[in-house]
Amino acid sequence: MDKSKPWWKLKTVVHWPFSATQRRKLNWVQLAGHKGNFKAADEGNILKKFSENEKQCFEKLRDDVLLPFVPSFHGVVEKDGESFLHMTDLLSNFDLPNVMDCKMGVRTYLEEELVRARERPKQREDLYSKMVEVDSEGPTPQEHSQRGVTKPRYMQWRESMSSTNTLGFRIEGIKKSDGTCRTDFKKTRSKQDVVQVFKDFVGGNPDILKSYLSRLKEIQQALKTSKFFKQHEVIGSSLLFIHDHKSNAQVWIIDFGKTTVLPEGQTLNHDIPWQEGNREDGYLWGLQQLLDTLKSVSNEESFSSVTKETDCQ
Ligand SMILES: Nc1ncnc2c1ncn2[C@@H]1O[C@H](COP(=O)(O)OP(=O)(O)O)[C@@H](O)[C@H]1O
Ligand SMILES: [Mg+2]
Repeated sequence: MDKSKPWWKLKTVVHWPFSATQRRKLNWVQLAGHKGNFKAADEGNILKKFSENEKQCFEKLRDDVLLPFVPSFHGVVEKDGESFLHMTDLLSNFDLPNVMDCKMGVRTYLEEELVRARERPKQREDLYSKMVEVDSEGPTPQEHSQRGVTKPRYMQWRESMSSTNTLGFRIEGIKKSDGTCRTDFKKTRSKQDVVQVFKDFVGGNPDILKSYLSRLKEIQQALKTSKFFKQHEVIGSSLLFIHDHKSNAQVWIIDFGKTTVLPEGQTLNHDIPWQEGNREDGYLWGLQQLLDTLKSVSNEESFSSVTKETDCQ
């Protein structure tokens, strides 16, 4: 053993003694959301903490054109006295995957959360601390003196710091095949910054980029005809990007925890501006921005030159 290297630096390169199942467990990563929401399940599956709302979404999705783009749902299971949603682990067929979580939409809180916070404002010290950690000038003088901010205020602030408001999506986290993990994208706002992050994520590989673009276009088409999508306010849902060194690349729609059904007969357009009361989420608008962002990445010189070469063959 190389004594000059500390053990934790060696850790990421030691793969061979593990079985396929063990390796899959090491590969699994939770890029966003509440810690402790997931548990390992039988091979190829995971357990997510139960939510009645999310369960109902999965059940309705069984009869919808979006079904091929969401993880398969296998029902509710009990484990250690708790209920979970049993679903496919989207990473299980990949070998050392690169994973990105992109949260969609122009806002990340429900209209009902806004109404509740207005009626019963609850000042949260934990959210105040999180805000100060990113930007000490984030809180107003009043928020500084009470050392608290409400949840929608915190979420609105995060939206304005990131690309949620300006592009209709934001990057929540990335894990690369080399084991590095980043979730510090809270201030990644401009299109230029996002292009840079994607460029780095796909590692300059035009095939991966092409696969991502065509899968996103399929998702866009499906969303435009989906009955489920028309009838729901889709908040806090993500697109999960996954690829590996063999150029397998997939995109999946995940997280329906805050996806809320509209009153009977009401539908959403998903690409007109949000005004309180209209419940619009800007999902389709954000998806178009995301497609344009990926197209900008593929048009950058380093990419187009590689593409031209393959075109000539
Ligand atoms: N079916 C899945 N397969 C693989 N990874 C998943 C799956 N669902 C979620 N994850 C991982 O867990 C993270 C959080 O999942 P999410 O459903 O958004 O939970 P939360 O409701 O806590 O936000 C995602 O960013 C992703 O990294
Ligand atoms: Mg989530």
